[in-house]
Amino acid sequence: MLNLVLFGPPGAGKGTQSELLIKKYELKHLSTGDILRGEIAAQTELGMKAKQLMDKGMLVGDDVVIGMIRNLLKEHSGAKGFIFDGFPRTNEQARALDELMMEVGSEITQMVALDVPEDELIVRLLARGKDSGRADDSNPEIIKNRIKQYHLKTAPVADYYNNQGKYHTISGIGTVEEIFSRICGQIDAVAK
Ligand code: AP5
Ligand code: MG
Repeated sequence: MLNLVLFGPPGAGKGTQSELLIKKYELKHLSTGDILRGEIAAQTELGMKAKQLMDKGMLVGDDVVIGMIRNLLKEHSGAKGFIFDGFPRTNEQARALDELMMEVGSEITQMVALDVPEDELIVRLLARGKDSGRADDSNPEIIKNRIKQYHLKTAPVADYYNNQGKYHTISGIGTVEEIFSRICGQIDAVAK
């Protein structure tokens, strides 16, 4: 199985690249952000609770997202592999993911981190915020808080994978196609 963690700060291009990667490698895309936005659109209780945190750029509780991933891994047990996008976002989520993968007799192949400078992230997210309808893209203060939460809670997850020899970083600057080609090169270099 190819199980890729696509990592990077808000606006790094995880969602954009995941769409291309799932086609090429026939993987199942698991984006906790997209799943949570689906819950909000369906106005579920979970969605309504998550919305209060997401709209401020704060992380949703570990238990909530780990539970969602657990269910989806079971639901898609026949998949060729997975792209985890926006998950794991804390060391607790990373430990839980290792356990969940072990339960299904597999493991994370590698983490590919997209490196994009902060000023470029802000430009991208504000541009999308003009018509995305995403409350967390709508103003610079919320975007800055998302980046702050990333540095506080999510950046340490890179060390978690680095300690396992699974962490690789690539430049997330350039055209979508250029970055896609860099990620594919990295995936193919580690493919078993
Ligand atoms: P989530 O949905 O995961 O958002 P995010 O990581 O903050 O950032 P984005 O999804 O906006 O960025 P991206 O890296 O996918 O970039 P994209 O391809 O879209 O999370 C949202 C919220 O949900 C969190 O704040 C939290 O509250 C909650 N949440 C989610 N997962 C959680 C978890 N595991 N634990 C706890 N809480 C969780 O690109 C961004 C923009 O740039 C687009 O407009 C795109 O067109 C453009 N772009 C892409 N590539 C390029 C390029 N090469 N050049 C120029 N522009 C580009
Ligand atoms: Mg995304």
